[in-house]
Amino acid sequence: MPRFAHVTGWGMAVPEKVLTNSDLSKMVETNDDWIIERTGIRERHIANDHETTASLATDAAIKALEMANLDPSNVDLVVVSTSSPEHIFPATACIVQDRIGALKAGAFDLSAACTGFIYALNIAAQAIQTGSIENALVIGSETLSRLVNWKDRNTCILFGDGAGAFVLQASNNPGGVLSAVMRSDGSGGDLLSLPAGGSRLPASAATVADGQHYIHMNGREVFRFATRVMSQATQEAVQKANLKMEDIKLIIPHQANQRIIEAAARQLALPMDRVMVNVGNYGNTSTASIPIATCEAIEKGRLQAGDRVVFVGFGAGLTWGAAVLEWSGPILTKRKRRLPASYRAWARTRSWLNRVVRYLEGLIWGRLD
Ligand code: ACO
Repeated sequence: MPRFAHVTGWGMAVPEKVLTNSDLSKMVETNDDWIIERTGIRERHIANDHETTASLATDAAIKALEMANLDPSNVDLVVVSTSSPEHIFPATACIVQDRIGALKAGAFDLSAACTGFIYALNIAAQAIQTGSIENALVIGSETLSRLVNWKDRNTCILFGDGAGAFVLQASNNPGGVLSAVMRSDGSGGDLLSLPAGGSRLPASAATVADGQHYIHMNGREVFRFATRVMSQATQEAVQKANLKMEDIKLIIPHQANQRIIEAAARQLALPMDRVMVNVGNYGNTSTASIPIATCEAIEKGRLQAGDRVVFVGFGAGLTWGAAVLEWSGPILTKRKRRLPASYRAWARTRSWLNRVVRYLEGLIWGRLD
């Protein structure tokens, strides 16, 4: 019997602190008019000291689990797509797994920049469709504000922080993720990169002094690349799902720049009322932008059960891709609803107990040599 991977829960989390264009004009030589005209961005959310990629991811994940009415102990896989992980390792996904108490889940991070959410969605859907797992949590989370050079007006105006999460569940009912395309071109890696802090250029006083730990971007080249691939990827994914553009209710593109989105819509001959745009309120939240825009589209009644939707994105790598879904919504279950606060409390207690047990085992068994 064929299996389908349905999105049955969704949630988003953004920091409270808002940075407007006028705030930015006091930090670098720029102004509200220029930013709005060239990007469509009016404001973005910026993490405070206590908010991190994992904390935003956890908040979004708990909302998605609550909507799906899925106990974290039934999650088989946690994928966090991010370009601003908490560490090189351990994976941010493992931090989230521990904080939500997903006891029997595998967890890993996925690095495909702004296209990452589409890649992660596809990988999780494939695992469900092949029968390998039942339930997955796919999260896109970023705190790129920590990687931006706040003196570089070419980049600091663009990015914002936030997270979005989907719960994917197996079902025999047709629908859910219908197709996906994933593409890359590493020859363009230097157009958008964070050069230092990895094994190629480990952190040193020289790399820090050189500003190599900040995002470096050739904006014009990225713009040209983006406008070329967005419509192509959309058309490929729609064709792969055996559908036509007329069958698609809504396109939810990666929210990088309003002009890029409008150019893609023109190439697809689509009116803007079939395209979701919220870059004005959040800036470019990278891999979190598609799930955040999805949450808002649903809230505004622009995406409903039974609608076909395209997610399309591009990013560093270079990477790009698209996915077509038949939107489903939560599956009705008889499961008793648990309060999300109890997920957190139980997970914290369990995590603490694990640490205590590990400590006691260390005392009992002593040194290995
Ligand atoms: N305020 C005022 N003036 C500015 C600013 C600013 N913030 N930034 C640049 N300028 C100036 C430039 O210096 C330049 O001046 P000059 O003509 O005297 O040299 C002029 O404005 C035009 O600069 P351009 O770079 O040509 O401006 P453009 O219209 O290309 O817009 C932008 C720049 C917004 C960065 C655009 O190129 C863009 O959006 N590119 C795509 C970036 C993107 O999407 N990146 C994310 C990818 S996803 C991921 O993986 C994270």
